[in-house]
Amino acid sequence: MDALQCIMSRRTCRAFKPDMPSKDDINTVLEAARNAPSGMSRFTRHFAVVTDKNWLDRMNERVRTIAGEASVSSNLERNGAKGYSCNYHSPVFIIVSADSSFNTSRDDCSCALENMFLAANALGLGSCWINQLGGDNCEKLRDLLSEVGVPASHKVYGCCALGYAAADPSPKKPRTEVIEFF
Ligand SMILES: Cc1cc2nc3c(=O)[nH]c(=O)nc-3n(C[C@H](O)[C@H](O)[C@H](O)COP(=O)(O)O)c2cc1C
Repeated sequence: MDALQCIMSRRTCRAFKPDMPSKDDINTVLEAARNAPSGMSRFTRHFAVVTDKNWLDRMNERVRTIAGEASVSSNLERNGAKGYSCNYHSPVFIIVSADSSFNTSRDDCSCALENMFLAANALGLGSCWINQLGGDNCEKLRDLLSEVGVPASHKVYGCCALGYAAADPSPKKPRTEVIEFF
Protein backbone atom coordinates (compact mmCIF):
# COMPACT_ATOMS: atom_id res chain seq x y z
CA MET A 1 0.00 0.00 0.00
CA ASP A 2 1.20 3.48 -0.87
CA ALA A 3 2.29 5.43 2.25
CA LEU A 4 -0.17 8.30 1.80
CA GLN A 5 -3.03 5.92 1.04
CA CYS A 6 -2.14 4.05 4.25
CA ILE A 7 -2.20 7.26 6.32
CA MET A 8 -5.48 8.51 4.82
CA SER A 9 -7.30 5.18 5.15
CA ARG A 10 -6.23 4.30 8.72
CA ARG A 11 -9.20 4.11 11.07
CA THR A 12 -9.68 3.15 14.68
CA CYS A 13 -11.07 -0.37 15.09
CA ARG A 14 -13.30 -1.20 18.09
CA ALA A 15 -14.53 -4.69 17.20
CA PHE A 16 -12.10 -7.57 16.72
CA LYS A 17 -12.36 -11.16 15.55
CA PRO A 18 -10.81 -13.70 17.96
CA ASP A 19 -8.43 -14.94 15.21
CA MET A 20 -4.76 -14.46 16.05
CA PRO A 21 -2.70 -12.53 13.45
CA SER A 22 0.44 -14.31 12.26
CA LYS A 23 3.70 -13.96 14.21
CA ASP A 24 5.25 -12.35 11.11
CA ASP A 25 2.55 -9.67 11.01
CA ILE A 26 2.86 -8.98 14.75
CA ASN A 27 6.64 -8.68 14.36
CA THR A 28 6.25 -6.30 11.42
CA VAL A 29 4.02 -4.05 13.54
CA LEU A 30 6.65 -4.12 16.32
CA GLU A 31 9.49 -3.35 13.89
CA ALA A 32 7.48 -0.38 12.61
CA ALA A 33 7.21 0.78 16.24
CA ARG A 34 10.96 0.46 16.81
CA ASN A 35 11.62 2.46 13.65
CA ALA A 36 9.78 5.48 15.04
CA PRO A 37 11.87 8.50 16.05
CA SER A 38 12.92 9.00 19.67
CA GLY A 39 14.03 12.22 21.37
CA MET A 40 17.86 12.40 21.75
CA SER A 41 17.97 8.86 20.27
CA ARG A 42 17.31 7.49 23.76
CA PHE A 43 15.12 4.59 22.59
CA THR A 44 13.99 3.58 26.08
CA ARG A 45 10.65 2.24 24.81
CA HIS A 46 9.45 -1.18 25.89
CA PHE A 47 6.76 -3.18 24.09
CA ALA A 48 4.96 -5.84 26.13
CA VAL A 49 3.02 -8.03 23.70
CA VAL A 50 0.20 -9.76 25.55
CA THR A 51 -1.91 -12.55 24.05
CA ASP A 52 -2.57 -14.38 27.34
CA LYS A 53 -6.35 -14.29 27.78
CA ASN A 54 -6.13 -14.90 31.52
CA TRP A 55 -3.95 -11.79 31.98
CA LEU A 56 -6.21 -9.74 29.68
CA ASP A 57 -9.27 -10.82 31.67
CA ARG A 58 -7.63 -9.90 34.99
CA MET A 59 -6.43 -6.56 33.57
CA ASN A 60 -9.94 -5.77 32.33
CA GLU A 61 -11.51 -6.71 35.66
CA ARG A 62 -9.15 -4.28 37.41
CA VAL A 63 -9.58 -1.49 34.83
CA ARG A 64 -13.34 -1.82 35.11
CA THR A 65 -13.20 -1.25 38.87
CA ILE A 66 -11.08 1.91 38.54
CA ALA A 67 -12.74 3.40 35.43
CA GLY A 68 -15.46 6.03 35.76
CA GLU A 69 -19.10 5.04 35.36
CA ALA A 70 -19.46 6.84 32.00
CA SER A 71 -16.40 5.09 30.57
CA VAL A 72 -17.65 1.66 31.69
CA SER A 73 -21.12 2.16 30.23
CA SER A 74 -19.82 3.45 26.88
CA ASN A 75 -17.47 0.47 26.69
CA LEU A 76 -20.31 -1.96 27.48
CA GLU A 77 -22.41 -0.31 24.79
CA ARG A 78 -19.63 -0.66 22.23
CA ASN A 79 -18.93 -4.30 23.09
CA GLY A 80 -22.58 -5.42 23.26
CA ALA A 81 -23.04 -9.07 24.28
CA LYS A 82 -19.26 -9.61 24.47
CA GLY A 83 -19.10 -7.62 27.71
CA TYR A 84 -16.57 -5.20 29.17
CA SER A 85 -13.12 -5.07 27.59
CA CYS A 86 -11.11 -1.85 27.34
CA ASN A 87 -9.23 -3.43 24.40
CA TYR A 88 -12.46 -4.51 22.68
CA HIS A 89 -11.49 -8.21 23.02
CA SER A 90 -8.54 -7.84 20.65
CA PRO A 91 -6.44 -11.03 20.55
CA VAL A 92 -3.23 -8.98 20.76
CA PHE A 93 -2.60 -6.15 23.21
CA ILE A 94 0.68 -4.22 23.10
CA ILE A 95 1.62 -2.09 26.10
CA VAL A 96 3.93 0.77 25.15
CA SER A 97 5.98 2.21 28.00
CA ALA A 98 9.16 4.22 28.43
CA ASP A 99 11.45 5.50 31.17
CA SER A 100 9.40 8.21 32.86
CA SER A 101 12.48 10.25 33.86
CA PHE A 102 12.94 11.53 30.29
CA ASN A 103 10.86 14.45 29.09
CA THR A 104 10.25 13.00 25.59
CA SER A 105 8.98 9.61 26.73
CA ARG A 106 5.33 10.37 26.01
CA ASP A 107 6.23 11.71 22.55
CA ASP A 108 8.47 8.72 21.83
CA CYS A 109 5.64 6.32 22.67
CA SER A 110 3.10 8.31 20.63
CA CYS A 111 5.34 8.14 17.54
CA ALA A 112 5.73 4.38 18.01
CA LEU A 113 1.98 3.90 18.43
CA GLU A 114 1.11 5.76 15.23
CA ASN A 115 3.68 3.70 13.32
CA MET A 116 2.02 0.57 14.71
CA PHE A 117 -1.44 1.71 13.58
CA LEU A 118 -0.14 2.47 10.10
CA ALA A 119 1.73 -0.83 9.81
CA ALA A 120 -1.42 -2.65 10.98
CA ASN A 121 -3.46 -0.89 8.29
CA ALA A 122 -0.90 -1.80 5.61
CA LEU A 123 -1.15 -5.45 6.70
CA GLY A 124 -4.98 -5.50 6.67
CA LEU A 125 -5.23 -5.53 10.48
CA GLY A 126 -7.35 -3.33 12.74
CA SER A 127 -5.92 -1.36 15.65
CA CYS A 128 -6.97 1.02 18.38
CA TRP A 129 -5.13 3.28 20.86
CA ILE A 130 -6.10 2.16 24.37
CA ASN A 131 -5.49 4.73 27.09
CA GLN A 132 -6.84 3.02 30.21
CA LEU A 133 -3.47 1.74 31.45
CA GLY A 134 -1.83 5.15 31.43
CA GLY A 135 -1.91 8.17 33.73
CA ASP A 136 -2.85 7.48 37.37
CA ASN A 137 -4.03 3.97 36.46
CA CYS A 138 -0.46 2.90 35.73
CA GLU A 139 0.47 2.65 39.44
CA LYS A 140 -2.87 1.02 40.28
CA LEU A 141 -2.01 -1.72 37.77
CA ARG A 142 1.70 -1.98 38.62
CA ASP A 143 1.53 -5.59 39.86
CA LEU A 144 -0.16 -6.73 36.65
CA LEU A 145 2.24 -4.69 34.50
CA SER A 146 5.22 -6.28 36.28
CA GLU A 147 3.85 -9.74 35.44
CA VAL A 148 4.23 -8.90 31.73
CA GLY A 149 7.67 -7.35 32.06
CA VAL A 150 6.92 -3.61 32.08
CA PRO A 151 9.99 -2.15 33.86
CA ALA A 152 9.33 -0.54 37.25
CA SER A 153 10.93 2.74 36.08
CA HIS A 154 8.53 2.96 33.14
CA LYS A 155 5.18 4.65 32.71
CA VAL A 156 2.63 3.35 30.23
CA TYR A 157 1.91 6.06 27.65
CA GLY A 158 -0.51 4.10 25.48
CA CYS A 159 -1.45 0.62 24.31
CA CYS A 160 -2.35 -0.88 20.95
CA ALA A 161 -5.27 -3.27 20.56
CA LEU A 162 -4.50 -5.35 17.48
CA GLY A 163 -6.29 -7.99 15.45
CA TYR A 164 -8.59 -8.55 12.49
CA ALA A 165 -11.47 -6.09 12.32
CA ALA A 166 -14.87 -7.67 12.97
CA ALA A 167 -16.87 -4.68 11.69
CA ASP A 168 -16.52 -1.65 9.48
CA PRO A 169 -15.26 1.42 11.35
CA SER A 170 -17.76 4.08 12.44
CA PRO A 171 -18.19 6.99 10.01
CA LYS A 172 -15.09 9.17 9.86
CA LYS A 173 -15.37 12.20 12.14
CA PRO A 174 -14.84 15.53 10.38
CA ARG A 175 -11.34 16.91 10.90
CA THR A 176 -11.66 20.33 12.51
CA GLU A 177 -7.98 21.19 12.80
CA VAL A 178 -6.92 24.50 11.31
CA ILE A 179 -4.30 24.73 8.55
CA GLU A 180 -3.04 28.19 7.68
CA PHE A 181 -0.54 29.28 5.06
CA PHE A 182 1.28 32.60 5.30
C1 LIG B 1 -4.11 9.86 22.70
C2 LIG B 1 -5.27 9.01 22.22
C3 LIG B 1 -5.97 8.24 23.13
C4 LIG B 1 -7.02 7.43 22.69
N1 LIG B 1 -7.63 6.59 23.59
C5 LIG B 1 -8.61 5.75 23.16
C6 LIG B 1 -9.18 4.81 24.06
O1 LIG B 1 -8.79 4.67 25.22
N2 LIG B 1 -10.18 4.01 23.59
C7 LIG B 1 -10.65 4.12 22.30
O2 LIG B 1 -11.56 3.39 21.94
N3 LIG B 1 -10.10 4.99 21.42
C8 LIG B 1 -9.09 5.81 21.81
N4 LIG B 1 -8.49 6.67 20.92
C9 LIG B 1 -8.93 6.66 19.49
C10 LIG B 1 -9.69 7.95 19.14
O3 LIG B 1 -10.93 7.96 19.76
C11 LIG B 1 -9.81 8.00 17.59
O4 LIG B 1 -8.51 8.15 17.04
C12 LIG B 1 -10.71 9.15 17.12
O5 LIG B 1 -12.06 8.88 17.42
C13 LIG B 1 -10.60 9.38 15.60
O6 LIG B 1 -10.97 8.25 14.87
P1 LIG B 1 -9.96 7.56 13.82
O7 LIG B 1 -8.75 7.08 14.58
O8 LIG B 1 -10.74 6.43 13.22
O9 LIG B 1 -9.57 8.59 12.81
C14 LIG B 1 -7.41 7.45 21.32
C15 LIG B 1 -6.68 8.23 20.42
C16 LIG B 1 -5.62 8.98 20.85
C17 LIG B 1 -4.82 9.78 19.84
